[in-house]
Amino acid sequence: MLKGKTIILGVTGGIAVYKAADVVSRLKKQGANVEVIMTDGAMEFVNPLTFQTMSNNPVHNSMFNKIEKFNVEHISLAQKADIILVAPATANTIGKIANGIADNLLTTVIMASNAKIIFAPAMNTAMYTNPIFQSNMKKLEDLGYEFISPGVGILACGDYGAGKMAEPEYIVEYIRGALMEKDLLGQRIVITAGPTIEPIDPVRYITNHSSGKMGYSLAREARDRGAEVVLISGPTHLSPPDGVKVVDINTTVEMFDEVGRYFNDCDVLIKSAAPSDYRPEKSMENKIKKKDGEIDELNIKFVRNPDIAEYFGAKKEEQIIVGFAAETDNLYEYASKKLKKKNFNFIVANDVTKRGAGFKSDTNIVTIIHQSGKIDEYPIMSKESVAKIIMDEISNIIKNKS
Ligand SMILES: Cc1cc2nc3c(=O)[nH]c(=O)nc-3n(C[C@H](O)[C@H](O)[C@H](O)COP(=O)(O)O)c2cc1C
Repeated sequence: MLKGKTIILGVTGGIAVYKAADVVSRLKKQGANVEVIMTDGAMEFVNPLTFQTMSNNPVHNSMFNKIEKFNVEHISLAQKADIILVAPATANTIGKIANGIADNLLTTVIMASNAKIIFAPAMNTAMYTNPIFQSNMKKLEDLGYEFISPGVGILACGDYGAGKMAEPEYIVEYIRGALMEKDLLGQRIVITAGPTIEPIDPVRYITNHSSGKMGYSLAREARDRGAEVVLISGPTHLSPPDGVKVVDINTTVEMFDEVGRYFNDCDVLIKSAAPSDYRPEKSMENKIKKKDGEIDELNIKFVRNPDIAEYFGAKKEEQIIVGFAAETDNLYEYASKKLKKKNFNFIVANDVTKRGAGFKSDTNIVTIIHQSGKIDEYPIMSKESVAKIIMDEISNIIKNKS
């Protein structure tokens, strides 16, 4: 969340200007105050009204406006910025900043600010790979300016190559990470996420409704707060979070083995996956065929899978283990029993029958039950907010240990 943060968005004259509107919208949704500075070049592409409307703030462009309220605009903007993001960043603007040129409002604000400066370059591949541009970028990187690498793809000019501005979703994630307090720095956190799938034959399997959204939100939050994250994930439709080691698995046994691989060296294990408790005793080598004249039943014998949480709960030494309980009834009773039996530090319980809670939803309604018996109930909130609360709890346990 970016509540209380002011982000100055510098928009320069590249064809990717249209994507900057999406960046503003996403920053606003996260609660940030966004002030847009457009270069004259950017104004050739898009009317400032677009950014004024999206940001709910007047758009800044000229340094030589009549001075109102006795504050000089480039200084007041420079001082109020938590971060200055330039997206899209042209070769021209990056070149000017690298060489100390401050000949418009944006370059002057950047020169006058102590805030973190982040560029999302966007340009034609020949411009991007041009040694002059590369040396300007290197010079700025060496001085502590940050760059969000452009992607490779078909560019507006029709060429294929590097130079496509990073996607707005990724840019906003980067900004969120850059602004977050690094209270989990040095912590090694293993997170399990998603469902497992247990094969019946080469074309069929049993699984559950887990989407992995909670685990992926936890991984992003932990990463943004400085942790080294291993995400052991069953099959999901989610994009793997950048900067996180993702280990893909299919079955509960595979998840068990991978947790085993990372457990001894981890500080925290978060069990947010929904592994299958049972698997077919035998996965058939060939597809099961229906045969004419046979009875309309197919019996499959299931056997128990290893209980990952219980096994590692029993093995735990200094590790913090966080469990989840998705229940349809007797929430407190089942979750409290699970907390004790599996030796968790705390358990995040939710009633999956409630609207806005559970597997596929973007929101959840959780109750945290602590080892001490303390119960914290939370209202409906996004899975990102739940992830923040869980990491706050973990951070508190770590602080109280040291
Ligand atoms: C149609 C068009 C598209 C352009 N796209 C880019 C671009 O993607 N990246 C870039 O660095 N320059 C691009 N330019 C060149 C810049 O607009 C030019 O260098 C300008 O001086 C940039 O000014 P500014 O950095 O102050 O916005 C483009 C120019 C035109 C006419």
